[in-house]
Amino acid sequence: MKIVGIGGGPAALYFAILMKQADPSHEITIVERNRLDDTFGFGVVFSDATQNNLAAADPDTYAEMASHFAHWDNIDIHYRGQVITSGGHGFSGLSRRALLAVLGRRCQALGVCIETGTEVKDPADYADADLLLGADGFNSTVRAHYAEQFGPTMDERPNKFVWLGTTRPFPAFTFYFKRDTHGLWRVHAYQYEKGHSTFIVEATDATWRAAGMHKASEDDTIAFCEALFKEELQGHRLLKNRSLWRSFVTIKNARWSHGNVVLVGDAAHTAHFSVGSGTKLAIEDAIALAAALRREPDISKALTAYETERRPAVESLQRAAQVSLQWFEDTERYMNLEPLQFAFNLLTRSLRITHDNLKVRDPEFVERIDRWFAATPPSSPVPPPMFVPFTLREMTLVNRIVVSPMCQYIAEDGMPNDWHLVHLGSRAIGGAGLVFTEMTDVSREGRISPGCTGLYSPAHVEGWKCIVDFVHSNSQAKIAMQLGHAGRKGSTQRMWEGMDEPLPSGNWPIISASPLPYYPHSQVPKEMTRADMEQVRADFVRAAEMADEAGFDLLELHFAHGYLLASFISPLTNRRTDRYGGSLENRMRFPLEVFDVVRAVWPAQKPMSVRISAVDWAPGGMQPADAVEVARLLKAHDCDITDVSAGQTVADAKPQYGRQFQTPFADRIRHEVGIATMAVGNISSYQDVNTILAAGRADLCVLARAHLWDPYWTRHAAYEQGYPLPWPDPYATLNKYRPRPL
Ligand SMILES: Cc1cc2nc3c(=O)[nH]c(=O)nc-3n(C[C@H](O)[C@H](O)[C@H](O)COP(=O)(O)OP(=O)(O)OC[C@H]3O[C@@H](n4cnc5c(N)ncnc54)[C@H](O)[C@@H]3O)c2cc1C
Ligand SMILES: Cc1cc2nc3c(=O)[nH]c(=O)nc-3n(C[C@H](O)[C@H](O)[C@H](O)COP(=O)(O)O)c2cc1C
Repeated sequence: MKIVGIGGGPAALYFAILMKQADPSHEITIVERNRLDDTFGFGVVFSDATQNNLAAADPDTYAEMASHFAHWDNIDIHYRGQVITSGGHGFSGLSRRALLAVLGRRCQALGVCIETGTEVKDPADYADADLLLGADGFNSTVRAHYAEQFGPTMDERPNKFVWLGTTRPFPAFTFYFKRDTHGLWRVHAYQYEKGHSTFIVEATDATWRAAGMHKASEDDTIAFCEALFKEELQGHRLLKNRSLWRSFVTIKNARWSHGNVVLVGDAAHTAHFSVGSGTKLAIEDAIALAAALRREPDISKALTAYETERRPAVESLQRAAQVSLQWFEDTERYMNLEPLQFAFNLLTRSLRITHDNLKVRDPEFVERIDRWFAATPPSSPVPPPMFVPFTLREMTLVNRIVVSPMCQYIAEDGMPNDWHLVHLGSRAIGGAGLVFTEMTDVSREGRISPGCTGLYSPAHVEGWKCIVDFVHSNSQAKIAMQLGHAGRKGSTQRMWEGMDEPLPSGNWPIISASPLPYYPHSQVPKEMTRADMEQVRADFVRAAEMADEAGFDLLELHFAHGYLLASFISPLTNRRTDRYGGSLENRMRFPLEVFDVVRAVWPAQKPMSVRISAVDWAPGGMQPADAVEVARLLKAHDCDITDVSAGQTVADAKPQYGRQFQTPFADRIRHEVGIATMAVGNISSYQDVNTILAAGRADLCVLARAHLWDPYWTRHAAYEQGYPLPWPDPYATLNKYRPRPL
């Protein structure tokens, strides 16, 4: 096969080695505009796991690379005058120059032709090749040439960073967070060969400009950074190598190949330097592409197979990189955390490292965090974060696990029944600290469906009291009532019949902030008048009084998911021109009026929460920054905790699902507003819960579907973690039972 690689970086060189090894008859040329050793950057990093892949792909090249490695296990985090060390991370560094020299030598030994000093202007010049490799880095000419076919997107990030070197041999992967008069500076530093380290300096655009770095030459940058980090450099100098300030650009391509042209490495995708090197991704691409071509002689099929195999791994890393780069964009937000929590937050930022992973890497570090989190004295046993009690007003939860509100659609005229007793009762026995009722409506017309529960008649109080009493007398759980009004999403079918679809018959009139139907074929709601508002307020007050009478411990108002109060908050559903529409302050006016009248009748010793949709996932809708303002208003009105959900406002929203996909909103609100938060949405493992809590991203973790799947979720999590959580007396035999896998 005749192969031409455009660009002589790690991706092309490694690919050429593997192809030549597989079949020496391949005719391979690499065209590079510079000399191979004429390189930018300083060191590259490989985790122990990546090294295993490299060793398996080509033991000889790996052995040569390994002879240059500087290895370290620790991560040192310098923050507010303290150094927090976490061990067991297993990384090796290597200079980019040494890496390219090793790869270049191996290529030459195997007969790969490396043509340096040629800048490719038009990839079509190599049309006679059987395979054309676009390995020409993040500014790829090949990608630009076939942009229509590859469909690239480029996301330029706001932070500024500069890649420097230093002769200070850092013994660990080192982070500095240092303030000067201009703002906060972050440093990522690691040794890549004996006596040399990479030293990346990063700051927000505002800090960078305030320091005049937008006008700085390379030498100005060095002088500024040497002065700023004088103490940290311990007398060592900084080194430059085309060390210009840049903004990181995340590159993605809709397709990685077109005909016989394929993109690899930075040309295809970039991932922020804070989650490991682009070099690792580039080499892993080369390994996957060479393997696909070995398996599949048809080039077009092999290129498809390569992309099919590689894309999920790359996208997963890019997702982690996105969260990680955002953490470094938002670091100012976390600067009030205690040093241990700050370090834990940093280490677990990208979701790839959890509380449990860290426990394997460095059990002592996790024990320190857990002890700090639980505020337990040194000699007593430390509970995992999820089992640390939490108090709001006079309500103390025995643990941080919450059963999320979940409509059952099985009531008649609002009346809770045996199903609700068993459903909520078994989840309380299952060990959660707090169990929520489903969204329970304040009036018959306020129901979502004919099967929704309500609190609008004395009989409902009796029904709910029976459930509350059961929970209180048979478990340690507290029980919360979620009160709502369906608004324009009312008079619809039960979830399994047709979620949000209008009833085929027997519809009742519905109201909303504005007369906008949910679907084009939905009922058009009546725009609420002041009289309607008075009525709804009175309904909420009556329901709150009933909830107290029934004995509920916490009251939540539903300001989320497009229901009545949410319809006021989102600009997509509120088109009013009176004092209840327009600015966020106006749009919040009616929901807050409801909150205030309810708070006034709800006993002072009992807490209140509000569930919000932090983002609408739709153009023109609520954004996370708006949710911060909503939470600020809630705090000012004495709300105790914000339950941070998202979406379900408009039918054509495009939610971005994923593990813990809504937790970042809870995290942001908690730190920017200083109000307690509940995180919800795709949190399903106890590792996730312990990580979210110990990192300070939320105060409580709310699980919905995981609790439908397993009512005893908390007990099972306790068992898995070896945490003693005695079963209720009738089940006491389970205290010694050891279940076998199903
Ligand atoms: C300033 C800087 C410093 C970096 N430092 C580090 C670091 O210290 N550690 C780390 O892990 N990662 C670093 N990276 C990222 C890392 O270099 C890449 O992720 C990785 O090298 C990707 O490998 P690649 O083979 O895809 O592309 P590259 O290594 O970028 O190689 C592409 C090659 O193509 C050549 N080329 C481009 N266009 C043409 C053309 N038209 N004709 C001919 N040749 C062409 C370039 O000269 C280059 O040699 C750095 C990136 C930058 C921009
Ligand atoms: C069957 C079902 C019913 C739901 N009913 C409600 C509800 O009544 N009130 C509410 O705020 N959210 C409701 N939700 C949303 C959940 O409370 C939760 O926010 C969502 O399922 C995401 O959490 P999870 O990923 O843990 O399931 C419901 C979800 C499910 C699956």
